[in-house]
Amino acid sequence: MPLFDVYPLYNVTPVKGNDVHVYDDKGTEYLDLYGGHAVISIGHSHPNYVNAVSNQVANLGFYSNAIQNPLQVELAKRLEEISDCKDYQLFLCNSGAEANENALKLASFKTNKARVIAFNNSFHGRTSAAVAATDNPSIIAPINAQQQVTFLALNDIEGVKRELEKGDVCAVIVEFIQGVGGLDQGTAEFFEQVDTLCKANNTFLIADEVQSGYGRSGKFFAFQHYKVTPEIISIAKGMGNGFPIGGVLIHPSIEAKYGLLGTTFGGNHLACAAGLAVLNTLETDNLIDNVNEISDYFISKASTIPEIKNIKGKGLMLGLEFDFEVAELRKKLIYEHHIFTGGASNKKLIRILPPLSIKKTHVDQFFEALRQAL
Ligand SMILES: Cc1ncc(COP(=O)(O)O)c(C=O)c1O
Repeated sequence: MPLFDVYPLYNVTPVKGNDVHVYDDKGTEYLDLYGGHAVISIGHSHPNYVNAVSNQVANLGFYSNAIQNPLQVELAKRLEEISDCKDYQLFLCNSGAEANENALKLASFKTNKARVIAFNNSFHGRTSAAVAATDNPSIIAPINAQQQVTFLALNDIEGVKRELEKGDVCAVIVEFIQGVGGLDQGTAEFFEQVDTLCKANNTFLIADEVQSGYGRSGKFFAFQHYKVTPEIISIAKGMGNGFPIGGVLIHPSIEAKYGLLGTTFGGNHLACAAGLAVLNTLETDNLIDNVNEISDYFISKASTIPEIKNIKGKGLMLGLEFDFEVAELRKKLIYEHHIFTGGASNKKLIRILPPLSIKKTHVDQFFEALRQAL
């Protein structure tokens, strides 16, 4: 049976990973500045992670959400402590799209409204409401197009005010740093006014932290760079360091009810063991401090390269913008210099999403390779 051919593939076959490196089937070492699409947070095959997942699967990999699962309670406790999202409640699921799907559904249930505001160039996932809130018509099927979504430009505060005052908007969904779109950000003033307008109009502010969360922006969550209080925060990617896990943090003012949300696999024992190992390691390895140190170093080196016209993003969620399309440059970096980087819908931009454990020597290696490739 052939695979359903939906991914254009690079001709590299990674079989092993260690910290910031992956190794292909011929033993060639690659520097991973892509983190498997912002997924690898604490580093490939971190020993804490390998031990936690191996021990858990040897005991109990899965049981349903109909029984007591102390690992979920422990994960929620550690997440509250480390993220500083005091008294938020946690619902666990399996992916970023699913997290946003649950976030939008909860906003609609609780406000009894149906329209969503999203922003130009946004990406929120490929499922029903999440894809409808994604600014890419080529991935929105007719069945998704029935959702009511209005797209506005980032920083268009008058537009947000006008739409929210119509009274039918359940949620404003925001990436505080856009991922797939290309690392654009609204201003602090804009985000803070959106938050105020949401509160005034019984509309939920959903922070999509699927890519920017778990320390990647230099704070635990990217929204924490601003004075805003999201009703819902969606998480995935770095949360499991490769194990599929997602979730939504839900403001203490929002009441749960049996049956309101649910899932078979979400919050299973193995996923929680992976998620706990990630949180504990973020703390013990001081990875958020490392993000800030390496980010400054990376940006100072990028500033010395004349071909780089713009540096976007925060922390280790960075974009290098050139005045030409970068597909060939990224291929050269992979095949000639053995360095993975990310692309974006902005075709002139290289996305940098390394494991949060990256060191200055790796940054030096990248810039040496980039100079040669240019
Ligand atoms: C900001 C953001 N939200 C949601 C998603 C969807 O996550 P998943 O692919 O796990 O469904 C992504 C994936 O790239 C993302 O970057």
